[in-house]
Amino acid sequence: MNDENRVIKVSNLQKTFHIGFFRKKVEAVKDVSFSVKKGDIFGVLGPNGAGKTTTLKIMMGLIFADKGSVLLNGISGDSHKSREKIGYLPEKAYFHEYLTPIELLKFYGKLYGLGKKEINSKLDILIEKVGLSDAAKRPLKKFSKGMLQRVGLAQALIGDPDILVLDEPMSGLDPVGRKFVADLIVELNNEGKTILFSSHILSDIERLCSRVVIFNKGLKVADGALDELLETHDGRAETLESLFMRKAFEENTQK
Ligand SMILES: Nc1ncnc2c1ncn2[C@@H]1O[C@H](COP(=O)(O)OP(=O)(O)OP(=O)(O)O)[C@@H](O)[C@H]1O
Ligand SMILES: [Mg+2]
Repeated sequence: MNDENRVIKVSNLQKTFHIGFFRKKVEAVKDVSFSVKKGDIFGVLGPNGAGKTTTLKIMMGLIFADKGSVLLNGISGDSHKSREKIGYLPEKAYFHEYLTPIELLKFYGKLYGLGKKEINSKLDILIEKVGLSDAAKRPLKKFSKGMLQRVGLAQALIGDPDILVLDEPMSGLDPVGRKFVADLIVELNNEGKTILFSSHILSDIERLCSRVVIFNKGLKVADGALDELLETHDGRAETLESLFMRKAFEENTQK
């Protein structure tokens, strides 16, 4: 595959945290490499604690890797410029609960460096896109989990990004909320956006993603086109669930 088509390139990332008085080592990401093609819907999966959020945070410049590199749109992740056209939904978003979605989006629009006029022209469209028109002027403290997730998605979209990095966008949502987010992901992808998202909900990954990477214990244990990964194991087609369990088990037996 042509390297120029890769809009995200993560190479040999490593990150160790040191916690507590005795600086106990937690090797969150031991060696992770993968790349994402322009136009992909790309899934990041792995069990709890596998290193997904840590990797995504490194990509977003929120924490620094000990080793390895990130290229976003061909620009080194060391430079803020690399993230100018990237929208990010954190795993846990802490929004100021007294703000309304409109106020919050104005704030994030400013952070993206957008002018007042540009922000105002986008607000209604964006709020409608995430299905919050009825609650646009309600403070976030009165929002349900699913509504907050929609605000988070609107926040990720305010800068009209080419790439969206979504950390568990469906987590905690009911089936209707999950379908809404899944449909939005497809719609945004059809508009030309590249989307990388992490999830535990294998059916959503299976339905939406063309390519995936699977992590376990800070290591990449599989990656590639989903249909190819599911094609052959012992000469049989495999479900994503059985692939996921097998990879988790394989890695566990090595430790
Ligand atoms: N700030 C931190 N300080 C210390 N340890 C951390 C920190 N952030 C993450 N870790 C540890 O790093 C490992 C990987 O965590 P991470 O959040 O990346 O996993 P994850 O794959 O996103 O898991 P989940 O599916 O539960 O969201 C875990 O052992 C976690 O406890
Ligand atoms: Mg996580």
